[in-house]
Amino acid sequence: MKVLGIETSCDETSAAVVADGRILSNVVSSQIDLHRPYGGVVPELASRRHLELIDEVIHAALNESGIALGEIDAIAATYGPGLASSLLIGLNTGKGIALATGKPFIGINHLEAHLYSPVFDGAGMPMISLIVSGGHTILAKVTGIGQHAILGQTVDDAAGEAFDKVAKLLQLSYPGGPEIDRLAKTGNPRAIAFPRSMLNEPGYDFSFSGLKTSVLYFLRKNPTHSVPDICASFQEAAVDVLAGKLLNAAEEYRVKTVSLAGGVSINSRLREKLTGECEKRGLRLLLAPAKLCTDNAGMIATLAHHKLLAGQRSTFSLEVSPSAGLGVAA
Ligand code: KG4
Ligand code: ZN
Repeated sequence: MKVLGIETSCDETSAAVVADGRILSNVVSSQIDLHRPYGGVVPELASRRHLELIDEVIHAALNESGIALGEIDAIAATYGPGLASSLLIGLNTGKGIALATGKPFIGINHLEAHLYSPVFDGAGMPMISLIVSGGHTILAKVTGIGQHAILGQTVDDAAGEAFDKVAKLLQLSYPGGPEIDRLAKTGNPRAIAFPRSMLNEPGYDFSFSGLKTSVLYFLRKNPTHSVPDICASFQEAAVDVLAGKLLNAAEEYRVKTVSLAGGVSINSRLREKLTGECEKRGLRLLLAPAKLCTDNAGMIATLAHHKLLAGQRSTFSLEVSPSAGLGVAA
């Protein structure tokens, strides 16, 4: 089966072709340069850019895959969560192509696609999975494809949002996560004792706004302090909490596999810490390739492949769902 997938939930315009579950092309046109002067995504600009790019991105994905539109068996598009005006472009394009070509259509939950991006075929399950992105921080127990229960999530800022906001305080360029990761490599992670919010509290919820505020107060008192030290110390505090909760959950639920997904899962310190801890504890760590961690249509088309094989389809009445949670059925 050949699936064309479309993703426009935030500021990446992306299309991918997946054949029998294998990604043949995964074209991502990032709008980072467009939004950089504003220090964050401007929804109106994002939506307009998606509209300008969507046709050529789909053509590029088809060309790169060597598959013609006529050979595609089904169309998939993200329906939520995300920015309403961005989601609308990809979802309506997907529905339009399906309607015009008479192919089946399926709407995909963006968070569910992130969740399964380290493992789409169910291998290693049950597992505890952490989705860490610019918009979400969710810890879930996954027992099979489409079978997951949320154990905890952020009560305020998402992990990626904290990275981006702290980077802004430090006047680093947008998006801040990769910049902090890069600068932290030359800093001392023990230079400043930033708080590990909620790490030792029962349950699996997260909070990152206190950590961000601590960095703000520290900077007000120490405006000339080493930026790499601040980056390394902030990152260490965030990573301690993320890794700590994931490992605690693996222990409590007695699972042998843990996985990491979403843009922040590329973070080199988070990967390094979890790799070491999992080795010590005899746990299997599943990581997605970097290209599948940030927003991309490859993960949308691959999850669609598994759902289509299970007989799932969406109707054309499916609307965008900007605040859809994990696992809201399409
Ligand atoms: O998954 P994603 O592309 O978009 C959402 O669905 O939100 O994640 C983007 C987020 C941004 O906040 C970005 O700063 C963060 O992932 N990020 C990182 C790194 N690379 C991207 N955060 C920390 N370290 C990184 N290396
Ligand atoms: Zn995402």
